[in-house]
Amino acid sequence: MIIIDGPAELSGELTVQGAKNSTLPLLAAALLCKGQTVLHNCPDLSDVDTALRILEHAGCRCKREGHDLIVDSAVTQCEIPEELMRSMRSSIVFLGAMISRCGSARLCAPGGCELGPRPIDLHLSSLRRLGVDIEETGGWLNCSAPHGVEGAYVSLAFPSVGATENLILAAVCGKGTTIIANAAREPEISDLCEYLNRCGARVYGAGESCVIIDGVKELFGCEHRVMPDRIAAVTYMAAAAVTGGNVTLRDVDNTHILPMLGPFEESGCEVRQLGGCLNIMAPRRLNPVRHIRTMPYPGFPTDAQPAIMSMAAVGRGTSMFVENIFENRYRHAEGLGRMGAKIKVEGKVAVVEGVERLTGAAVESADLRGGAALVVAGLSAQGRTQVSGTQFIRRGYEDLAKHLADLGARVREEEA
Ligand code: UD1
Repeated sequence: MIIIDGPAELSGELTVQGAKNSTLPLLAAALLCKGQTVLHNCPDLSDVDTALRILEHAGCRCKREGHDLIVDSAVTQCEIPEELMRSMRSSIVFLGAMISRCGSARLCAPGGCELGPRPIDLHLSSLRRLGVDIEETGGWLNCSAPHGVEGAYVSLAFPSVGATENLILAAVCGKGTTIIANAAREPEISDLCEYLNRCGARVYGAGESCVIIDGVKELFGCEHRVMPDRIAAVTYMAAAAVTGGNVTLRDVDNTHILPMLGPFEESGCEVRQLGGCLNIMAPRRLNPVRHIRTMPYPGFPTDAQPAIMSMAAVGRGTSMFVENIFENRYRHAEGLGRMGAKIKVEGKVAVVEGVERLTGAAVESADLRGGAALVVAGLSAQGRTQVSGTQFIRRGYEDLAKHLADLGARVREEEA
């Protein structure tokens, strides 16, 4: 559990980790590329370990040297064990890479998810459009494309991040041209395509709604630096905001932060962006964040919603949230309520009436970003907050407690 003795006032500098949501599809892509891939700036997270175990199970040799991951790609089998599939939702992006490299893949549906139902229907229907035969039996997916993946026009009913990545991975070594309409535009997709193109792929339009892929025969691994984690960055910004802090973040891509700046400006924080750095100075008491509607990129990201709700909980007035991406993404509201926050949730809407001060309490994280939001709230609360369920937090944040302690908070992580 993470134990926080609040309130804190954060100040100082922090280097933001590499992006989890970029590292995972990049590791799937490393399976597809022959030879060696070196990924720099990879965060040390449990989800990244799971991805490495999938690669090793397939026959790759993987080595971590600090924040560098070295993958020697060789594929001896195209099956992902159930335990690995079930421990992380993103394991599904290995499907596209495997089908592309081996012409077949056997795996089960990815596992139990904390954010409500997370179907993979878009992944499967769009891969079928590329000529992949997918048979679903007893919870397993037997996928094959014995004559190779065939280029096609695919229009996604929703710009799913994972489905877009899966399609790109499947199509890069396919026959002919694939066009993805209504593709997700998240920066992590551009990062993936930048790597793939450097390995010899021909992907055009990544980061836009229409992505065009001209299939090539094979790809060869290369070196790549993982983009900075925009969600980790916004979590630290929220931590600075609720504590009236003054924090400088290094290794930030400021263009990725822009869609998340609204609530910081609304609440009275001063944010200065310069090169790869960002400085945030927060007032003693925040104004409300007003109105947050989560949307696909470049809209406000669902992953940033929980941390911003912790800001709203101590804002001087009322804020409203509309969660449009996941059905069950207000589970942190219960923990915040225990700390004295006034939050009413009805379906996809949450109304937060800010209070002057939260009070420390024992709370439990139910998911990754919600857990981090409770830690953020604990920094502003009077007294001791104990956040349990840190295994969720470790899926996405490298050394969260240590980084916050380095910024001056009294926070530590303990085995429960
Ligand atoms: C990715 C991110 C996650 C983020 C999410 C939305 C990674 C590793 N994870 O998850 O942190 O919260 O994007 O920005 O990058 N959907 C379907 N059918 C499908 C696929 C998705 O209905 O086949 C729905 C989902 O249930 C959800 C919405 O589409 O309501 C968005 O999901 P998607 O963009 O696919 O998220 P992930 O790729 O799982």
